[in-house]
Amino acid sequence: MNYPYTTQFRQALVEWFQEEQRDLPWRHTKDPYRIWVSEVMLQQTRVDTVIPYYNRFMEKYPTSESLAYAPEEELLKMWEGLGYYSRVRNLQAGVREVVETYGSKVPDNRHDISKLKGVGPYTAGAILSIAYGKPEHAVDGNVMRVLSRVLNIDADIALPKTKKIFEEAVTALIDPAHTSEFNQGLMELGALICTPTSPKCLLCPVHDYCTVFHEGDPASLPVKSKKVKTKNLDYDVLVIRDVEGRFLMEKRAEEGLLANMWQFVMIERVADENSFSKAEQQYGLLLDHALAVPLESFKHVFSHLKWLIDSYLVDALQVPEQLPKNTAFFTKEQIEQLPMPVPMLKIWRKIN
Ligand code: ADE
Repeated sequence: MNYPYTTQFRQALVEWFQEEQRDLPWRHTKDPYRIWVSEVMLQQTRVDTVIPYYNRFMEKYPTSESLAYAPEEELLKMWEGLGYYSRVRNLQAGVREVVETYGSKVPDNRHDISKLKGVGPYTAGAILSIAYGKPEHAVDGNVMRVLSRVLNIDADIALPKTKKIFEEAVTALIDPAHTSEFNQGLMELGALICTPTSPKCLLCPVHDYCTVFHEGDPASLPVKSKKVKTKNLDYDVLVIRDVEGRFLMEKRAEEGLLANMWQFVMIERVADENSFSKAEQQYGLLLDHALAVPLESFKHVFSHLKWLIDSYLVDALQVPEQLPKNTAFFTKEQIEQLPMPVPMLKIWRKIN
């Protein structure tokens, strides 16, 4: 790397972070377990969204031991609305490994910490640099954006192999005396100043040391190729209510999207097919003479696909003894304890 301002850049970034950083709950601790939880929550999720979840999570699971053996359903409920639910399952598995294999001490080197479930290069580097003061890279999308501009790197950040270029850059640049402030300073700069569009270069503490600020157009970097278009899936969601006012819920499969979460009956609507007749095959008596009232139509976007939902409230007049597998009727109070995907919560709020 041919960059002449390493010393100045470090100093300006660290000083700026010390002065201007946002007061965030995970910045009041050096406990590697707590840093770990915060970093997992912050992956793919905005700071403002994470704050209340982090605070509730820490109150319920203040130590690695308290998280290690929490029931999965309770954990999913604590994570409800944050999305990417495999994150919390992996976090728990990793934390359990720390409790059982390392006497509850999170490993302080990249080799061991990287073997833990759910701990990738970013999370490893974040914990090591923030909690342990180790000079390790922690490169996420924000950091790649900032450094693509500072160092004028035009590699495509959508390609997995590009990450290595930035990891090497951080390894060369990081201030060994202030690893936490340096790495979090890069993240903070990306969040507050060096934003994807309209970066606030005139306010930037490192603009004197920014290659593209002097030589080009900061907003033209990073280079990021478009990802393939997300797939659309059409669903009819049937909120089936029995005569006692209980609702039929179905537990999703153990693997895959929204694993083990609870939902109302979902029927995929395929072109030229009547989904009510398809549902009747599966739900038989439940839907005999049932009355369906339209509730709401909306879309819900996941990272790689989109659900287009039409929802209905269905009063079932007869309930068969044998319900379809993985389904059961629940009272309102019971449902409020079940972890549900956001689109289901949206429908649930509509009828409550
Ligand atoms: N995004 C990821 N990690 C972060 C942190 N420690 N502070 C603020 N934003 C972040």
